[in-house]
Amino acid sequence: MKKSYEQSRSVWMQTAEVPLESTLSEKISADVCIVGAGIAGMTTAYFMAREGKSVVVLDDGPIGGGMTQRTTAHLVNALDDRYFKLERLHGEEGARLAAESHTAAINAIEAIVEQEAIKCEFERLDGYLFVPPRDSKHVLDEELAAVHRAGLIDIEKVERVPWDSYDTGPALRFPRQGQFHPLKYLAGLAKAIKDQGGRIYTETHATEIEGGKQARIETKGGGVVNAESVVVATNTPVNDLIAIHTKQAPYQTYVIGARIPKGSVTRALYWDTPDPYHYIRIETIGRGAAAYDVLIVGGEDHKTGQQDDGNKRFAALERWTRHRFPMVENIEYRWSGEVMEPVDGLAFIGRNPLDAKNVFIATGDSGNGMTHGTIAGILLTDLIMGRKNSWEAIYDPSRITLRALPEFAKENLNVAIQYTDLVVAGDVESVEEIKPGSGAVISRGLSKIAVYRDPAGVVHELSAVCKHLGCIVNWNSLENTWDCPCHGSRYDAMGKVIQGPANRDLEKEQTADTKQHSAGSSKG
Ligand SMILES: Cc1cc2nc3c(=O)[nH]c(=O)nc-3n(C[C@H](O)[C@H](O)[C@H](O)COP(=O)(O)OP(=O)(O)OC[C@H]3O[C@@H](n4cnc5c(N)ncnc54)[C@H](O)[C@@H]3O)c2cc1C
Ligand code: FES
Repeated sequence: MKKSYEQSRSVWMQTAEVPLESTLSEKISADVCIVGAGIAGMTTAYFMAREGKSVVVLDDGPIGGGMTQRTTAHLVNALDDRYFKLERLHGEEGARLAAESHTAAINAIEAIVEQEAIKCEFERLDGYLFVPPRDSKHVLDEELAAVHRAGLIDIEKVERVPWDSYDTGPALRFPRQGQFHPLKYLAGLAKAIKDQGGRIYTETHATEIEGGKQARIETKGGGVVNAESVVVATNTPVNDLIAIHTKQAPYQTYVIGARIPKGSVTRALYWDTPDPYHYIRIETIGRGAAAYDVLIVGGEDHKTGQQDDGNKRFAALERWTRHRFPMVENIEYRWSGEVMEPVDGLAFIGRNPLDAKNVFIATGDSGNGMTHGTIAGILLTDLIMGRKNSWEAIYDPSRITLRALPEFAKENLNVAIQYTDLVVAGDVESVEEIKPGSGAVISRGLSKIAVYRDPAGVVHELSAVCKHLGCIVNWNSLENTWDCPCHGSRYDAMGKVIQGPANRDLEKEQTADTKQHSAGSSKG
């Protein structure tokens, strides 16, 4: 089973192994250093290696150990943000380029799977967008007209999605979407990268990332990489303090996997239109007569670190699913993950704003990170190789989309409100109230302490101040993590950083005993 700092396990983590690599402890050089071995980093490494460049990939966990192991892996040009909205924000040409790039990404994945003979269950299938019962169906007509203007002319309106058990009413059918097993795909990419001479190091945390004439990446174990270019593909950039993090917002999203008889729900991708929306696909487990399907249903998103009710959200997903699919036998999987929502609907892929020219980032995936990560591989390779790419402007991380200002203001006001946690009381009054295996923030004088009582009852105290920009973290009892409500940094129960933008662990809080001890020893 794959290692994870969070408690929940996705279906992928329980059905695939990704090879472990060695940890970097020496000084090495490469043409390109890529920090982050998720889909964005691994795809970029693959394309750069194919250009004949020497490539080094660093990851502080295993390959795919970030959000790529928690995805649901719909491969789509039916984007999370409606095309009529993208048109308003980025113009008709911008929406057309978005459609073109996501279509190209699905094609690229298909070509890689074929060329590298990757057994990752890749398949083409239809996708259906439908509207909840009492909502206006007008949105479908508006979207249909916009997708046609964006060049996706084979999308059509149908009477209902192909479910026997529930009539959704009219829907849009998006042909030639895709799905795969994300970890089996990354295992295949890892092999292809290494076959072309690429080097991959895991359990290797990049502590400092500097661009310039030669980029320099320092790692926790003392290893150093000098490179012509560096790509920071850490899902949310750990080398950017502010520029990007005011333009995207972190959301926690939830998924259940329900066991159903094989073939009882038509194999396709499905999405509805509310915000947050539901996303659905089918994964077959096992072979022959023992095979069965898992209906994967996601949704119930909320801003990271601002709610702690994961089990309620799973229950809501289960109710929604059972109502529409009475053939559900039991819920076999439950997991959660984080997505970065850009304020203007498109990812940020390109040169890191306010940085040296050889530092690149890929972030702001929204729920389309499989294709955005693949677009990153294609686009960043062109930028590093000095080639023109018509998608450069729409994904430029320095862009300011004036029409997205209301969304920008809304998300940043929400962040500003989180700073009031610095002065309000903690979650509980005393450490004694915290049960084994759980955590809470307490106030001690002017300080906020993140207290975790491990299952054996031992208390671990950390400063609750996030190492990014100083918000107070909150306990996530589903995943046993400390989550920052401002820009989505996450730490494990012991304070180890597992998700940026923070790139350092929470500080250990000195207990009364250790304070007394260190005061005593400094006198001595
Ligand atoms: C529940 C869920 C469902 C989703 N469904 C879909 C879907 O159906 N379709 C779709 O397209 N997208 C979906 N997404 C989004 C998609 O999964 C993500 O956007 C995508 O996996 C992000 O890939 P990444 O390579 O950018 O980041 P990650 O996969 O998170 O990889 C980043 C890597 O960087 C490493 N790292 C971080 N900091 C450092 C450091 N300092 N040093 C070294 N390494 C570091 C991490 O360990 C991690 O492995 C979903 C996401 C979630 C959570
Ligand atoms: S993530 Fe920005 S302050 Fe915590």
